[in-house]
Amino acid sequence: MIYARIAGTGSYLPGEPITNDDLVKRGVDTSDEWITARTGIRARHFAAPDTGSSELALVAARRAIEAAGCTVDDIDLVIVATSTPDFIFPSTATLVQAGLGIENNCAAFDVQAVCCGFVYALATAEKFIRSGSHRRALVIGAEVFSRLLDWTDRSTCVLFGDGAGAVVLEASDKPGVRAVALHADGSHHLVLWVPGHVSGGLVTGDPFLRMHGQTVFKLAVKVLEEVAHEVIDLAGVPQDSIDWLVPHQANIRIIQSTAKRLGLPMEKVVTTVDVHGNTSAASIPLALDCAIRDGRIRPGQRVMFEGIGGGVAWGAALIDF
Ligand code: ACO
Repeated sequence: MIYARIAGTGSYLPGEPITNDDLVKRGVDTSDEWITARTGIRARHFAAPDTGSSELALVAARRAIEAAGCTVDDIDLVIVATSTPDFIFPSTATLVQAGLGIENNCAAFDVQAVCCGFVYALATAEKFIRSGSHRRALVIGAEVFSRLLDWTDRSTCVLFGDGAGAVVLEASDKPGVRAVALHADGSHHLVLWVPGHVSGGLVTGDPFLRMHGQTVFKLAVKVLEEVAHEVIDLAGVPQDSIDWLVPHQANIRIIQSTAKRLGLPMEKVVTTVDVHGNTSAASIPLALDCAIRDGRIRPGQRVMFEGIGGGVAWGAALIDF
């Protein structure tokens, strides 16, 4: 039996932290009190205007490869989860492949499931590895969501940040990824979206992120609890065997509510939303890398990832380290 195991992680945040007060100084009609109380966010990072997701992804990827103790030549699959690719095409994954200098015996493509993108990408890579067709995948979440923000819309622009996180997922005779559950319900595509597109040399429609915050909040709390139970059932493991929850970092109130519904104390939940904001597809691998590097998540422990984002698309994965 071939399983897929996470062999190493890496992450990257561009620039200095931008605090809530910094946003006020930049002219956003908000306050540190409001943002902290409603979201738990105190700071986020923004990439320089000429820095693309692929550049953030490259740094995170190099760190993950180093942590996994392998070389770029060992990588035969690159999957980048992003909703903010450098270009319409080619994929950000091909730019990462080129940046790393990986030869052409490697597949590379992007996955777009917005804030759940990393879980979708991990699930995809796991299936490649379990099939035996590929041995070692780089799975990356990378975003420059700052490019999509309308700075006059205070209900959205305070929530998001830029960054990248990566894992090396490799074939193993031990699990590894124990179970994954993915879902989507496109009937909700209007609750969180960027309506614009490029046509005839112009951006047609609204190029900024739009969101019905309360609808997203209610949907998130409901489906994240359901999918967490689903993945536990699929794996056939006891609920109390979970050592850590690494959730998508959208809002501390969503995270607290999910943890409460699962009966998990917050001491078992990795949170970085306070210092990263919502980095969409990058948020789970960024949080994971923090908790591995600071020694919280250790070999032998069991970890749940879960996320939800535009589409809406949501999912969870249960992984043994
Ligand atoms: N600063 C100050 N006041 C604000 C701000 C702000 N940044 N944003 C909104 N307000 C005001 C509104 O204008 C409104 O004022 P009014 O009562 O005078 O009209 C008041 O605050 C309440 O606005 P609501 O939009 O109802 O605020 P709500 O309590 O719903 O909080 C929030 C908004 C934080 C976005 C919340 O709905 C939420 O967390 N939703 C979840 C969505 C989320 O996390 N999305 C991330 C992307 S999706 C994902 O990753 C899962």
